[in-house]
Amino acid sequence: MTNVLTIAMPKGRIFEEAVELLRQAGYKLPPEFDDNRKLIIEVPEEGLRFILAKPMDVATYVEHGVADVGIAGKDVLLEEERDVYELLDLKISSCYLAVAGLPNTKMNEVAPRVATKYPNVAEAYFREQGEQVEIIKLNGSIELAPLIGLSDRIVDIVSTGRTLKENGLVEYERIQDVTSRLIVNPVSYRIKDRKIDELVERLHEVVEVL
Ligand code: PRP
Repeated sequence: MTNVLTIAMPKGRIFEEAVELLRQAGYKLPPEFDDNRKLIIEVPEEGLRFILAKPMDVATYVEHGVADVGIAGKDVLLEEERDVYELLDLKISSCYLAVAGLPNTKMNEVAPRVATKYPNVAEAYFREQGEQVEIIKLNGSIELAPLIGLSDRIVDIVSTGRTLKENGLVEYERIQDVTSRLIVNPVSYRIKDRKIDELVERLHEVVEVL
């Protein structure tokens, strides 16, 4: 399989932007990419094979070498600290990680609780601030937690800000800007360096003009 590059793509909101970027870079991706539930899509004409993974799992596939490269959000890379190289900031799916909560509320002084999908990022952030908090890990709909009394604050992704607004929450601190990155397995990078360098160059040209 040394001639075929396996690319792990994140399903969901990043997917369309990532496909568009690859098409702009000149890769001919078939209509299968636009609407279906297939998890593996082969594009032999381009020497590419795509696997469609949950965004949080992309770096796992790349770390284990079952995908050579992948497209992963910086949020996931900060949270997971996988053994992969980051090759390029693709500048898509721009958003940020923030601390949010109900307006005009202080953190509970005795046992402040923070709900998040990013326990490591949240833990590190509050430790740096010198605040000891209890982290409550959730898998989604994080904004529910302060509304229903599960936590004082949340650490979550803010993109348009609509979810916070429509749920009456406000942002307290901005933690980190997030965009999608091209990542690579270190061994794949040694074996398939030419094909990977070509991918990086072609994407770089497109990203430069974004
Ligand atoms: C993400 C994030 C926020 C929302 C932010 O959730 O966790 O809830 O998007 O976007 P906005 O600022 O544009 O409103 P996602 O939709 O990925 O689903 P989840 O709640 O299952 O994590």
